[in-house]
Amino acid sequence: MKKELIELKVNGRSHELAIEPSKLLLDTLRQDLQLTGSKRGCDDSSCGACTVLVDGTPMLSCTMLAASCEGQEITTVEGVSEHGSLAAIQKAYGDWGGAQCGYCTPGFMMTVKHLLAVNANPTEEEVRSALSSNLCRCTGYSQMYQAIKAAIEAEQKAVPST
Ligand code: FES
Ligand code: FES
Repeated sequence: MKKELIELKVNGRSHELAIEPSKLLLDTLRQDLQLTGSKRGCDDSSCGACTVLVDGTPMLSCTMLAASCEGQEITTVEGVSEHGSLAAIQKAYGDWGGAQCGYCTPGFMMTVKHLLAVNANPTEEEVRSALSSNLCRCTGYSQMYQAIKAAIEAEQKAVPST
């Protein structure tokens, strides 16, 4: 199939790429940009391991065409760290053993990043609801939720009081 030139903005950097129009965003990130954090965990849009943010909204990169994302801001798990330091959610995952095999972790982190952007102090119920589309095959949910709780608390402490 004939390739087309597209420009993708990923984690703050613009990339000009020659890709097939039918190429999925997930494959473009992994194969053309070597951003392999986002994972393919299923074949039917049910696991959330491929979740990235497109203009700040969590999207399944396994079901989106890369070409459809031109002009939008894509954020992958590689873009979660802040100024070279671990983001609160990354640190908390390490502290609490939030990952087992870690395959689902990038997708969870992107969903948590979005949740905290729209709701700085979510209840446990809101956290569970937001993450209901992300699945962990290792069933490590308990440590994961501890890590997310710790990340929320860390973010709260980081907000200067007025
Ligand atoms: S790989 Fe995209 S939802 Fe499972
Ligand atoms: S930690 Fe293994 S799939 Fe979630």
